[in-house]
Amino acid sequence: MPHVEIVRATESDIPFIVATERRPGFENLVGRWEPEQHAQAMAEPRYAYFVARTAEPVGFALLRDWNAPERSTLLRRIAVAEPGKGFGTALLRGVIERVFGETQAHRFSLGLFPHNLRARRAYESVGFQAEGISRGSAFVGGEHHDELVMAILRPDWLARKT
Ligand SMILES: CC(C)(COP(=O)(O)OP(=O)(O)OC[C@H]1O[C@@H](n2cnc3c(N)ncnc32)[C@H](O)[C@@H]1OP(=O)(O)O)[C@@H](O)C(=O)NCCC(=O)NCCS
Repeated sequence: MPHVEIVRATESDIPFIVATERRPGFENLVGRWEPEQHAQAMAEPRYAYFVARTAEPVGFALLRDWNAPERSTLLRRIAVAEPGKGFGTALLRGVIERVFGETQAHRFSLGLFPHNLRARRAYESVGFQAEGISRGSAFVGGEHHDELVMAILRPDWLARKT
């Protein structure tokens, strides 16, 4: 796999982010925002956007509650343009390093649809652990859906580094 660089996203990455959210097949896996909503969130300190790049951007991650006093950060959204090539786990590894290395976060969590086994596998391989089902926590397409909650805690991250 080519070297993947993980950097904070800028407004110029919004077209890539919007296109990636809308990849065919992703509609039942990941949420979508309009470009204006991304631009607004990017300007708020509680959101942090990262992109994974080789020569071109290959994936993005959107985090909420970045550097929050509660010390709990949420991976709000992640998607790569070409799944199954290792870019997602590279992006996740980089983002985990940034969360625990650059902030005081104790917990980094996410929710995914339980049927999304590819995402679950990617999360597990970088150290997220399944915690349980959050019933009806996602309101998508006018319906309430269950989510599987997964998280990695700072001690988990430290233990994996040794
Ligand atoms: C989730 C996502 C970011 C993961 O990134 P990725 O680049 O596809 O992941 P990787 O290629 O690094 O790793 C995927 C892992 O899942 C495994 N996998 C691939 N397809 C799978 C499937 N259908 N079922 C189970 N596991 C699968 C791979 O073997 C790999 O595991 P391994 O490292 O143990 O071999 C990416 O698939 C994606 O953007 N999916 C669409 C949007 C989405 O689902 N976002 C997450 C919403 S919670």
